[in-house]
Amino acid sequence: ASAMSKVSFSVNGEVRDLELDTRTTLLDALREHLHLTGTKKGCDHGQCGACTVIVDGRRINACLSLAVMHEGDAITTVEGLGSPENLHPMQAAFIKHDGFQCGYCTPGQICSSVAVLEEIKAGIPSHVTADLTAASQVTPEEIRERMSGNICRCGAYSNILDAITEVAERQA
Ligand code: FES
Ligand code: FES
Repeated sequence: ASAMSKVSFSVNGEVRDLELDTRTTLLDALREHLHLTGTKKGCDHGQCGACTVIVDGRRINACLSLAVMHEGDAITTVEGLGSPENLHPMQAAFIKHDGFQCGYCTPGQICSSVAVLEEIKAGIPSHVTADLTAASQVTPEEIRERMSGNICRCGAYSNILDAITEVAERQA
């Protein structure tokens, strides 16, 4: 037997009201109920980062989170970051640096990296840099560590790193 529940959250600035099986993940709610297929399903087990979205400013793996837990939350997917006519600076940098091959991991990489730069700005420490305020500059090691949950099967890592580094330097 399945239980249905109502949930209301905003996705890319628009309030969405859904009635879902309580076991529906946020990922399936986005892809199958709201038809926002930019967010990808890789492993469905929290191990690849393809499903990364930004919830109230923090990145999460949407496959690990139940949609009904997000009542009132503000969710941003890759569709909400920019459009083909008006790319987000991170999207533009990924194109400039060839930060993808097949592109399957790319929406997650981009959502994750946008949130990473916010984490750094907010001084949230990682394993690499315990005290960011003491760091004069964001190092490649720092970005690599923070992006380690986003797997790229095509191995585009060095170009991804170049893209994120450029945006980080511009923001510094
Ligand atoms: Fe969510 Fe892989 S699909 S982490
Ligand atoms: Fe193919 Fe990353 S570009 S998985």
